[in-house]
Amino acid sequence: MERPPVVVAGPVVRGDGRGRQLGFPTANVAVPPARMPSEAEVADGVYAGYLRRADATVLLAALSIGRRPTYYGPDGERLLEAHLPDLEVDLYGEVVEVLVGPLVRGQARFASSEELVAQIAADVEAVRRLGARSAPGPWPEAERVAPAGQPSPDGSGRSSG
Ligand SMILES: Cc1cc2nc3c(=O)[nH]c(=O)nc-3n(C[C@H](O)[C@H](O)[C@H](O)COP(=O)(O)O)c2cc1C
Repeated sequence: MERPPVVVAGPVVRGDGRGRQLGFPTANVAVPPARMPSEAEVADGVYAGYLRRADATVLLAALSIGRRPTYYGPDGERLLEAHLPDLEVDLYGEVVEVLVGPLVRGQARFASSEELVAQIAADVEAVRRLGARSAPGPWPEAERVAPAGQPSPDGSGRSSG
């Protein structure tokens, strides 16, 4: 990996539900804008990575960071989405952490959903290969982020002074 791993956190929010229709449901992670890495830090693209659930379970993830140009042109909202291969879990409302690992490819605009789906299937295979080679190791510390309207989760082991 050329850069140290980037870890971001946020609550999983509802997307447009298109991922499920495409056969690749994604957890849309609402990273607070101030904590979202810039495009200079993390270019838009597909990454191999890991998602850590609130219960500390760590799962392999195919990550998409970008504006989904296939559907929204160049000016869509910049999103972080995580597809969890072989897993059907409802993460809505859960605060998760995402470790952004190696780049698989840049984000692209596809002429049709079918072409995007074929590419995502290949991406997921690439992520499996990368993941098999690199276990996440000790999970890097990230800032804890509370779901909107809720107090900060406690018990992180962190003391205030
Ligand atoms: C592994 C992966 C790669 C993706 N690559 C692209 C891409 O290159 N271009 C693009 O427009 N969208 C890409 N997407 C995002 C999909 O367009 C998005 O997940 C889908 O539209 C569902 O959005 P929704 O969660 O808001 O329903 C990718 C998603 C995943 C999981």
